[in-house]
Amino acid sequence: MVLVEGHDLRRIGANYPVGMKLITVTEGQTRLEVPNPDEFRTKAGDYVPSLAEVFYNPRMELNRDISVSAAHVSAKRLGSLWACDPLSGVGARGVRYAMEVSGISEILANDRSPRAAELISRNVEMNGVGNLVQVQKKDANVILHENKGRFNFIDLDPFGSPAPFLEAACAAISRKGVLAATATDTAPLCGSQELSCVRRYGARPLKTEYCRELGVRILIGFAQRVAGKHDLALVPILSHATQHYFRVCFSAEHGAKKSDEVLRNIGHVSHCFKCGRRVVSRGVASVLPDFCKCGNGLSHAGPLWIGSLADSDFVKDVIVDVANRSFRLGFHEVSLLSLCAEESAGPPTFYNVNELSSTLKKPPPRMDILEEKVEEAGFFFSRTHFSGSGFRTDAPFEEIEKTFISVPR
Ligand SMILES: C[S@@+](CC[C@H](N)C(=O)[O-])C[C@H]1O[C@@H](n2cnc3c(N)ncnc32)[C@H](O)[C@@H]1O
Ligand SMILES: [Zn+2]
Repeated sequence: MVLVEGHDLRRIGANYPVGMKLITVTEGQTRLEVPNPDEFRTKAGDYVPSLAEVFYNPRMELNRDISVSAAHVSAKRLGSLWACDPLSGVGARGVRYAMEVSGISEILANDRSPRAAELISRNVEMNGVGNLVQVQKKDANVILHENKGRFNFIDLDPFGSPAPFLEAACAAISRKGVLAATATDTAPLCGSQELSCVRRYGARPLKTEYCRELGVRILIGFAQRVAGKHDLALVPILSHATQHYFRVCFSAEHGAKKSDEVLRNIGHVSHCFKCGRRVVSRGVASVLPDFCKCGNGLSHAGPLWIGSLADSDFVKDVIVDVANRSFRLGFHEVSLLSLCAEESAGPPTFYNVNELSSTLKKPPPRMDILEEKVEEAGFFFSRTHFSGSGFRTDAPFEEIEKTFISVPR
């Protein structure tokens, strides 16, 4: 046994199936043959999945585990799943859904790379799920458009942005379903590459201490505007920003009225870089305030989703499901999801105690004491999964400043 990034790896015969050196890894209840990471390391020894002939990133195990549980909860709610994994790589998601989710009727696992398609077939066969998984090697948009309205669970897990695939995914989703998307283009979404964000998502990002939350909200708002063209309402039921990626699961439901309701929760966040105050405005094209109460000019992010990032009932069911499985990263996953559920009842944007500490020139207080004081004053308070030093509250900015200054240290 060789341990690479926490995986038990068992070397299997080289040169199978098409000259790739493969190893076997286990995720959840599923065994997967994947390219040998030792073949694709930089001089410094880092594994670069995109160098491999077929893409497999062991660092995405947490994302896939949570997706398995989210699919399981979705299957229970929807009755049965007709799932599509259109950007499948080695087939990790499609095969795991077939192996680990009960209530699957069929899965289409697709990758345009012939070598990937071969490896998916191999993994389907090795796990004995050929009765559930159909493998294709087409362009993801073609496969989704060829299957209009057929799937009630679609998982978009591309290189970089899911934006090029959302239109086709909206066409392929059935009247009621779940659409999940991963984005690894966090630099544009967080404001390091502003023009890329404007080009890809039609929205302006902002480099604030809560830029990752803004990035998730931009991704959600973009998907909802694309879905609007199909009279499709996408409501986020689980969102998280982890390591180098963002992940959102939407409940999808057709209907012009429902889609209109969703779009009412699109707006902008205006931020003051002097005092840290934020102003949230509703509406895709609303008039935005120019100045902060402190007199400084405001900077704007959006359009973006200003509603809740999760449905806490759904997340709680996912937590129970994760806790009932023996995922290697289960403890970490439950902690992450618990924070997502807790903060979902709070308003957009969180505060960072270190930022407040530097603007208010006071040392950071203990978080539990701050929590007690904010709650005593009758306001919502939660920690946030976006930052270990962040908290979310609906208290007015003046109240936050006052409490922050007066809280005992
Ligand atoms: C990030 S990898 C997928 C990883 C996989 N979902 C997982 O969890 O292991 C993206 C995959 O999409 C495939 N791909 C990229 N563009 C595509 C397209 N337009 N149509 C179909 N497949 C595509 C690539 O060959 C690659 O295998
Ligand atoms: Zn200000």
